Amino acid sequence: MTTERTLLYTGKSKTIYDIGEKDVVLVEFRNDATAFNGARHALLEDKGRINCAVDAFLMGVLAKNGIKTHWLKRLGPTEILARRLDMLKVECIIRNRAAGGICKRLGLERGRVFSPPLFEFFLKDDALGDPLLTEDHILLLGLATQEEISTMKVLSYKINDILSPLFSEVGFDLVDFKLEFGYYQGELFLGDEFTLDGCRLWDQKTGDIYDKDRFRQDLGDVIEHYKQAALRLGIEV
Ligand code: CDP
Repeated sequence: MTTERTLLYTGKSKTIYDIGEKDVVLVEFRNDATAFNGARHALLEDKGRINCAVDAFLMGVLAKNGIKTHWLKRLGPTEILARRLDMLKVECIIRNRAAGGICKRLGLERGRVFSPPLFEFFLKDDALGDPLLTEDHILLLGLATQEEISTMKVLSYKINDILSPLFSEVGFDLVDFKLEFGYYQGELFLGDEFTLDGCRLWDQKTGDIYDKDRFRQDLGDVIEHYKQAALRLGIEV
């Protein structure tokens, strides 16, 4: 796209630009892959394009199912137009099974099924290492109101109810995922992204990993697995 753009924010794998319109931003998905709070970094060819395609597909599914998202339209292979949200400084995690941080934190066996799924809040703060937050912490720090806490939980569970069966139909377990919400014209919308960078996806038969843990754990063939996951979902990449 040749739209006149001004840099607003450079994240770890996305860049946000102002394009001279008050209510929207341009989001660019880059090839950067990071892990361990930026300590590991690599450029993975095609990652931006695949993430942009997967995000477009999943945000579309969510929108069709009544979830309000920031996603507006695809502008190019790695770019979208999105509503400009005023983001809450918390990350919402849903876990259908135990993996990653929670195994260490609570001494749980990897793969243990959570029924009902577990919901957790984390503080969005790289300098503090994104610590786990209780609801009382959120109220104490003024990060969200009780009503916003409830809304984020309800929306996160609803999103899990929409996406878990979708992944399951093509043989994947949606193990866990991260969501971020923000305000648009007085209402909470889903922002950020839904890609293989922000969720865990395991093959139901083989247990193979198709998400960013391939990068975190140096398992190799990261992009090949991202592509395979997209193809199984029927997404053209
Ligand atoms: O594995 P780690 O302890 O870093 O994170 P986690 O709390 O187990 O992450 C749960 C899920 O949220 C995983 O699918 C992560 O990829 C995702 N996540 C994310 O996308 N961004 C973060 N800042 C933290 C977690």
